Amino acid sequence: MRSFAGRDILSLKEFERNEFFHVFDVAQKMEPIARARKNVDMLKEKTLVTAFYQPSTRTRLAHEAAMHRLGGHVCGFADPKMTRAGDFYQESIKDTVKMLEYYGDVIVMRHFQQGAPHEAAKWASIPIINGGDGWGEHPTQILTDLYTVLREKGRIDGLKWLAVGDMRMRTMHSLGYALSQFDCPITFVAPPDMGLTDEFKAELKQYSVDFKEVDHVEKAIADADVILVEPVVQPDYTKSRDERTGELSLTPANYRITRELLETKAKSDAILLHSLPRMDEVPLDVDITRWSRYWQEAFNGVVMRMTLLALVLGAME
Ligand code: CP
Repeated sequence: MRSFAGRDILSLKEFERNEFFHVFDVAQKMEPIARARKNVDMLKEKTLVTAFYQPSTRTRLAHEAAMHRLGGHVCGFADPKMTRAGDFYQESIKDTVKMLEYYGDVIVMRHFQQGAPHEAAKWASIPIINGGDGWGEHPTQILTDLYTVLREKGRIDGLKWLAVGDMRMRTMHSLGYALSQFDCPITFVAPPDMGLTDEFKAELKQYSVDFKEVDHVEKAIADADVILVEPVVQPDYTKSRDERTGELSLTPANYRITRELLETKAKSDAILLHSLPRMDEVPLDVDITRWSRYWQEAFNGVVMRMTLLALVLGAME
């Protein structure tokens, strides 16, 4: 297996099956540190640079929290408007990264342009972690989700997935690539204008992913062991910032996971994931049901970022 030390985490297309399991093994070693709310000194000589060109609550703060848990340091920006990339100069990724690499030892980047972290990785001499790039990918989120499934269900292979939401979403792309390494059939449910692109479908076929599409969650939920939901009412991910204006439409029933639907149609031991933020696709009364696992997912988000930071910085092999 390739070493993770010094490696960029840009895409789950690049991940091999044994690498997923290695990451999950290391995550299980990290978990007690996070669960005990301890800070250790594993990365005390290291600094994480956060370069966020798009808003984030979880991805940026989970990386920062992970770095603190491992005794490291953090610097960075949460809004490009405060940098020369977001003002008159529109400073390029290359010029920005050629500076940032001297300010720390690893960079986590979120960007509104698909491929921006890959461009950064071309120029940086330190690892780049993709914290979400436009409609591209969100590898650390899906590693978190797969780890959550492993911890909650005890296995990944043999589980049937239902993915609901906007299939242009970066999480859906990383999920499709990741499931190519597991025995996990998946059913996608999306509005017609947010369906799988022909290009992505071709890739899924090329990677031997067992997938199908249906038009309503009611047609697929009974078979699902893992239900992963994303909003269909959401901002434009190709913009640096997309403010809400006026009234928003509600999520159609086809793409909503309600308590009644879970009670009447879902497997009793299915689990429900949502990377959040949510709109109305998972109503609040679902939170206190046996299906919801999104708060466990949030905790695992810190564990997974601890794992990836420790691996790419060579503190764990
Ligand atoms: N799940 C996720 O990526 O959340 P943020 O946009 O808050 O980082």
